Amino acid sequence: MNSKQVVVITGSSTGFGRLFAETLARKGHTVFATMRDPAGRNAKNASEIRAVAEKDSLPIHVLELDVTDDASVERAVDAAFAKAGRIDVAINNAGYVVSGLAEAVTTEQARGLMDTNFFGPVRVNRAVLPHMRRQRSGVLMHISSGAGRVVIPSGGFYCASKFALEALAESYSYELASQGIESVIVEPGPYETPVIGNMVAAADEARTDTYGAVRQIPAKINAALASIAGNAQEVADAVLRIIETPAGEKQLRYLVSPQSLGVDRLNALSKQVQANLLEAFGLAADTRFLKGKAVGSV
Ligand SMILES: NC(=O)c1ccc[n+]([C@@H]2O[C@H](COP(=O)([O-])OP(=O)(O)OC[C@H]3O[C@@H](n4cnc5c(N)ncnc54)[C@H](OP(=O)(O)O)[C@@H]3O)[C@@H](O)[C@H]2O)c1
Repeated sequence: MNSKQVVVITGSSTGFGRLFAETLARKGHTVFATMRDPAGRNAKNASEIRAVAEKDSLPIHVLELDVTDDASVERAVDAAFAKAGRIDVAINNAGYVVSGLAEAVTTEQARGLMDTNFFGPVRVNRAVLPHMRRQRSGVLMHISSGAGRVVIPSGGFYCASKFALEALAESYSYELASQGIESVIVEPGPYETPVIGNMVAAADEARTDTYGAVRQIPAKINAALASIAGNAQEVADAVLRIIETPAGEKQLRYLVSPQSLGVDRLNALSKQVQANLLEAFGLAADTRFLKGKAVGSV
């Protein structure tokens, strides 16, 4: 694989996604900074990114991509492939938080969250994988969260969406390794981005009102997270290091956090348990990354 890679990032309008785009492009990687509605709701963000790219001659291309829309995802991936001739890395970053007591989250809110945080990566991965499989190389990166491993009261649906994402990303890692494709999970702790401002509150206030002191939990959690939030550039620097780690040497999970809270220990134990499971089912060889020995055909 060329050391300068072609990277598609979802949710690049603000926050991590925008930082990833700039950080990777400054190191010479070609970036497709995708976002929904770059001519409308994100027009200002899109033009700021284009202005930086032009001023500093950065290889960043802004494309429209709404992760909840199959056709939009396919159009963006086709456009990126047509322009660059390959896709080396897909960063599944688009996502948001629904905050509130679980009973007060409506089914419509829950479905919408899963459609972005879980089915978004499903759509993106299905669109990029045929290209990666032809290349016999590629990286599916999933921006999960520490909350993809531990449960935060009042964040039940957000945690569920990230737990689901983690399970799927891990499954991809076993199924694709022998074809030279890696699936990696990045688990950021709390970082300063617009994520809190973009948070959606549980809609059924009448139910929340019946919970007494427990109804204060969402506010307590948000205050606690804000008080320890780190500088988001740390996550962008970690993503750059991961992308530049040679094929076959990447980890499945990377915790990047101002505080570990034991998530690193959960990850270490899970790695052992999963290795035992693969061994017990006779799957260890099938699920190993085979350098230069990619198998299968597309
Ligand atoms: N910041 C943290 O502390 C933290 C910690 C752990 C994990 N994360 C994860 O990091 C990721 C990025 O979040 P952030 O902190 O950078 O917050 P952010 O600034 O709010 O970024 C979220 C991005 O997702 C985009 N998005 C939402 N729905 C979309 C859709 N349907 N199609 C395409 N893009 C969509 C948003 O675009 P619009 O501008 O169009 O809304 C925005 O660009 C999320 O997956 C989040 O769960 C964040």
